[in-house]
Amino acid sequence: MEFKNILLSAEGEIGILTINRPKALNALNIETLQDIQMGIQEVKGNPALKVLILTGAGEKSFVAGADIAEMKGMNSIEALNFSRLGHLTLKMIQDLDRPVIAAVNGFALGGGTEIAVACDFIYASENARFGLPEVTLGIFPGFGGTQRLPRLIGKGRAKELIFSGKMVSAQEAFQMGIVNKVFPLASLMEETKKAAAQIAGNGTIGVRLAKTVIDAGFNLDLTEACSLESYAFSIGFTTEDQREGMTAFVEKRKPNFKGK
Ligand code: CAA
Repeated sequence: MEFKNILLSAEGEIGILTINRPKALNALNIETLQDIQMGIQEVKGNPALKVLILTGAGEKSFVAGADIAEMKGMNSIEALNFSRLGHLTLKMIQDLDRPVIAAVNGFALGGGTEIAVACDFIYASENARFGLPEVTLGIFPGFGGTQRLPRLIGKGRAKELIFSGKMVSAQEAFQMGIVNKVFPLASLMEETKKAAAQIAGNGTIGVRLAKTVIDAGFNLDLTEACSLESYAFSIGFTTEDQREGMTAFVEKRKPNFKGK
């Protein structure tokens, strides 16, 4: 498929979706959000891809937010539709039936932090900057920043970032629990691919079930969430991968998972 503002590539079992609008530091306009949705659909339709990496083109910016020039003239109905488009796009990333790792390679501001936080986890380069500067523009976050971020790092820390509009370094974002690991920019993609390859080598269905249960259980009470885990756990025992994984352990060899 042809895209205008993203690049979609595959390296073995790893898909790489690169947001590619360098003239606006990869800011998310309507067209880019639509491209991301189509890219996610394409990954969904390709069973050979076991893990997706989401990153930004260039060495300066992951995503510098929603496109301010496009938002500037919006009326409230258009803003509602824009926010809903952003939410739908980020939900498609969150709900993709395989892990998505954000490789944040520079500015991740506003919608940039929001899209990264919709991924399963975040690796960042040392030059990455996170923040929700929307209040400096007279608005506030509209792609899930007020909802996903407090769930990830707690209400107090999220409120501090959102109310102040300040930027934090990759190291500060690591300390806050936004980022899992920080690498020099030159090794960010290599390290992210290594992590993706390790995940891709595991039982595909087990990894997918784990993602589903973690996300679906997060907002349930613990009893219901554990019950959901038990049912999903039992589904794992209908797969060839379960038999292969356990047989390989007993036979002291490496498993050869088929994703079935
Ligand atoms: N939207 C549209 N264009 C953007 C943009 C954005 N979010 N961020 C950067 N650009 C454009 C700039 O307008 C500039 O274009 P021109 O060359 O045509 O002038 C180009 O990208 C390069 O940017 P700068 O010259 O500003 O680069 P810099 O190095 O001086 O600063 C920056 C980098 C600190 C990231 C700065 O660009 C910036 O503050 N960007 C805006 C960040 C922001 O406020 N993001 C939140 C957006 S609102 C949002 O996301 C709402 C939501 O939740 C849905």
